[in-house]
Amino acid sequence: MAKTLIAYFSRRDENQVGYSKKFLEKGHTEIAADKIRELIDADKFEIAMKKPYSREYSACMEESKRDYYSDARPELVSLPVSLDRYDTVILAYPNYWGTMPMAVFTFLEAFDFSGKKLLPLCTNEGSDMGRSERDIEKLCPKAILGTGLPLCGSGVDTSKPHIERWLKENGLL
Ligand SMILES: Cc1cc2nc3c(=O)[nH]c(=O)nc-3n(C[C@H](O)[C@H](O)[C@H](O)COP(=O)(O)O)c2cc1C
Repeated sequence: MAKTLIAYFSRRDENQVGYSKKFLEKGHTEIAADKIRELIDADKFEIAMKKPYSREYSACMEESKRDYYSDARPELVSLPVSLDRYDTVILAYPNYWGTMPMAVFTFLEAFDFSGKKLLPLCTNEGSDMGRSERDIEKLCPKAILGTGLPLCGSGVDTSKPHIERWLKENGLL
């Protein structure tokens, strides 16, 4: 039974890739999550919103901005019943407005991470981890927070060596 959970938020649909906009079949963060699973035994859980943001990029920007500024906690489709069986939770998310999507805040507030290792991975287009690690620390003060891995979302296809090194540094490989 896997002792590591990869909890991830990711959006397929329209996104900015380099200088153009494209509809993605699989979001950058989910691609990174799948690369992790090629390297280690881990369960995968999608942090999905009951009312997902729009498929169009500009509408998604507006909706997510509203959630960010109102410090919203969007309702999720589901939550794992418990995290008891996991030693480590890899938390993978895109950088939204300098931090995590607010749905990830909803996820983190639902559990007590006492004694669990929490490893953040943040795909982004220039802001790296942003303020996300500080926000995770505030939300999960009892977690053992490992070093975060920022990945360029549009370069995620070539990120496997970085992921491999990071897993080794954090004792998962
Ligand atoms: C609503 C929204 C807000 C974003 N805000 C930022 C940001 O503040 N800084 C940044 O570097 N990238 C930002 N991005 C780019 C995403 O972090 C990047 O494209 C990410 O890889 C998307 O992951 P996904 O395909 O798994 O959803 C934003 C993208 C969206 C859609």
